[in-house]
Amino acid sequence: MVALTVGLILAAAANAGETVSMAKLGKKIEPLALKDATGKPFSLAQLNDKKAVVVVFLSFECPISTSYCQPLADLARSFDKRGVAFVGISTNDDLTTEQLAKHVRDAKLPFPVLRDEQHRGADAFQAEVTPEAFVLDGSLTLRYRGRIDNAYAARLKKNSQISRHDLREALEELLAGKSVTEPATLAVGCAIPRETTVTAKSGGAVTYYRHVLPILQDNCQICHRPGEVGPFSLMIYRQAVNWASDIKDFTQSRKMPPWKPTESIAFHNERKLTEKEIATVAAWVDSGTPEGDPKDAPAPKAFPEGWRLGKPDLVLTMDNDFQIGPTGRDHFRCIVLPTNLTEDKFVVAIELRPGNPRIVHHTLLFIDTTGQGRELAKKQHERLKKEDTDQGPGYTVGMGGIGFRASGGLGGWAPGQLPRFLPEGAGFLLPKGSDVIMQMHYHRNGRAEKDRTTLGLYFAKKPVSHRFQSMVIPGGGQLPFLLNIPANNDSYQVQGTVWVGQDCQLHTIMPHMHLLGKKIKVTMTLPEGKPQTLVGIDDWDYNWQETYLLKQPLAIKAGTRFEVEAVYDNSSRNPNNPNNPPKNVRFGEQTTNRCASSSWE
Ligand code: HEC
Repeated sequence: MVALTVGLILAAAANAGETVSMAKLGKKIEPLALKDATGKPFSLAQLNDKKAVVVVFLSFECPISTSYCQPLADLARSFDKRGVAFVGISTNDDLTTEQLAKHVRDAKLPFPVLRDEQHRGADAFQAEVTPEAFVLDGSLTLRYRGRIDNAYAARLKKNSQISRHDLREALEELLAGKSVTEPATLAVGCAIPRETTVTAKSGGAVTYYRHVLPILQDNCQICHRPGEVGPFSLMIYRQAVNWASDIKDFTQSRKMPPWKPTESIAFHNERKLTEKEIATVAAWVDSGTPEGDPKDAPAPKAFPEGWRLGKPDLVLTMDNDFQIGPTGRDHFRCIVLPTNLTEDKFVVAIELRPGNPRIVHHTLLFIDTTGQGRELAKKQHERLKKEDTDQGPGYTVGMGGIGFRASGGLGGWAPGQLPRFLPEGAGFLLPKGSDVIMQMHYHRNGRAEKDRTTLGLYFAKKPVSHRFQSMVIPGGGQLPFLLNIPANNDSYQVQGTVWVGQDCQLHTIMPHMHLLGKKIKVTMTLPEGKPQTLVGIDDWDYNWQETYLLKQPLAIKAGTRFEVEAVYDNSSRNPNNPNNPPKNVRFGEQTTNRCASSSWE
């Protein structure tokens, strides 16, 4: 079935135009004096007895940078005995001393982290991004600059495997008295904000308070505020300025706000900027991020706490925290939530409250009437080791599946999605005694984190005349188990078709593929009608798979045809490809889910 894996084309564009910097290589770096996280002065000159010094530029807001905290801590510990000192330089200059000290503690960094006052450190090294590592020899001469390893293919794109540990290699060579074979590599990360070039305090054509803040409020703050899934906040002027060039780039390339469909009918919760908004943001950045007059600011946007749909009829929650380790691949965890219902119910709305929004990336809900989920959880618990960094309720079966065929589904949730009631008369059947399997996609952020997510269910108070059903359109035709995605094929096409046997209404669509997926398109052809695209995604990203809710339910006649076309990239150019070198990928347990499913009443 189309479920396997979608990966993505290596986004060569992500760092397009950037070249490897050779600046300062072979030059002595003047010993810098900065202050550490406790406010004490610290100079590189203090390290003159070391064989080598590693200086790493860090940002506790940049997800790539935070994801390296643990690997850097490990490296620092292992090279400590060999006479190598590590020093971090934090580029977030708006952090207070206490905030910086807390970040260093939380990240468990065993080396000093200095504040980069007035970007003196970044200027001395001509550092461009975080994280970027610099290796100095005993005489403080620069011998290596660049990435720590090749874990990232580009911004937002991790390679499935690390094949070169550049920083470690450079240190080994240096300690062995050799010259560094690859003295400069391209560091992938977030731009280090330099002195802001604010040209106009007010009176500029486009200002923060009048033009940009309303766009950020409506499109970004739902995720980019403290404690939410966005890696940094976009609540105040200073934050927008620090991220200005990225805000421009990521909105222009439409990577942010995250919204994958390139072609679709109208959906609820659509996250998309208009061309005009994108141009406004770009004009603001190009004109030096003018602040304008705070009196022009719209009222702050309210983000209500608590249940948005009112008190649920049934609240299900994890019986324990799920603890997730700082690094490695994302974790897909199936949590078994017994409903203990003694009679059948119709569910008319679900509301999900992530316990820890920083790591809950999305959630899919399934119904299990067979007890297989409980069994799987029990078996995995028996095998769990004390030292495992991922601990807690539930079980894991890989990327996306739940380990067996679910008896039904209840939809899904992704950050930024608002809950809503089904149209009157419609409902999902939740049979008595069933369990809800809540599949959590946990996104690791470089720190050990905990989560306990809660699910609220709202039951029908009025009779339900239309039962929600899911229809799976398997890619790979009638015999999906024959699906075989050949190794080294970067655009392997798969199709699937189903016909609807009765009149119904279409409410939701959920395209689904895993790591090898590249593109997906779902079309509908009414009897005697022309094909109509319901949703098309050109750059599939399993991180942002969603259940799309139609703004206007569509009336479907018996005989309507639904088709799915999916393209897989099973080449080594796909950074998500779990196999290196690529292998033929067959239909398998992990892939048994749908390629595209639609719900109708
Ligand atoms: C639905 C939630 C959501 C919304 C809405 C959203 N973002 Fe993000 N944003 C994220 C997440 C999550 C990440 C981190 C992605 C990752 O680490 O894979 C991110 C990352 C980013 C990054 C890149 C940081 C990096 O290097 O990885 C930028 C820049 C950004 N967002 C800007 C914006 C702007 C500007 C808006 C509004 C126009 C916006 N985002 C709206 C969730 C969101």
